[in-house]
Amino acid sequence: MISVRGLSHSFAGRPVLKNINLEVEAGEILAIMGSSGGGKTTFLRCISGLIAATTGEITVDGVDVKKEPEEARRRMGMVFQSAALFDFLSVRDNVLFGLKRKRKHIKGDPEEIANEALDRVGLKGSETLMPAELSGGMRKRVGIARAIALQPKVLLYDEPTTGLDPITTYTIDDLIKSVRETMGATTVVVSHDVTSVVRTADRVAFLEDGAMTFLGTPKEFLESQNAAIREIIDKSQIHLDAAPSLNKS
Ligand SMILES: Nc1ncnc2c1ncn2[C@@H]1O[C@H](COP(=O)(O)OP(=O)(O)OP(=O)(O)O)[C@@H](O)[C@H]1O
Ligand SMILES: [Mg+2]
Repeated sequence: MISVRGLSHSFAGRPVLKNINLEVEAGEILAIMGSSGGGKTTFLRCISGLIAATTGEITVDGVDVKKEPEEARRRMGMVFQSAALFDFLSVRDNVLFGLKRKRKHIKGDPEEIANEALDRVGLKGSETLMPAELSGGMRKRVGIARAIALQPKVLLYDEPTTGLDPITTYTIDDLIKSVRETMGATTVVVSHDVTSVVRTADRVAFLEDGAMTFLGTPKEFLESQNAAIREIIDKSQIHLDAAPSLNKS
């Protein structure tokens, strides 16, 4: 569903992504981890067509992101780290805003679609609240509702659980998984929470100074001898009970 070949990107001549090659299968959840400033957000923005990568080729559902960014973006939903809500619009209107702008491509009644998306993320009854009245976790959920309302084939999440407590993190993780189950959306999620990643992802990619130094299953990730990965895992004191699927083998 997503194919990245020879992707490199520089800001003002300074390399930030270095020759990344990656294929993401339809319906897969791929987590991206890495050091701060390692290029994770830049990588997501290249995939989504928000920035044009300096070199390399990216296709999403067969569409070349650099050549046809509009066409490619129609297939993608992005959940920004900051949630990026409009503070002057209610929860429902934040979701409706994108739907009305893209209504040509979306079938059905926008109001109904918005209500359904808010229901999905557990915000039924909060439709008329303003962003200032929401908790951090609720803001993230509005961001997710806004993205899934457009029924994209690909969902990109930038640190959806950063700054949330463990319980709220758990519910967002479950939401990301249930969206994948019910919509079949191919998912790329940037995270620095090892427990979340192990719980949700099919595969993990690790970015260090713009280079992808690891790609494998969560189990392989936990067993990796890469020094930077070991440091993150050791610091995170991962609770393996939270990942029962890993304890089976
Ligand atoms: N628009 C920009 N212009 C110039 N430099 C940028 C721009 N966006 C990011 N960078 C630089 O690119 C590098 C990678 O940034 P990026 O935001 O992709 O890292 P990240 O892995 O998402 O980090 P974090 O974990 O802190 O969110 C950083 O050195 C950053 O300063
Ligand atoms: Mg980032």
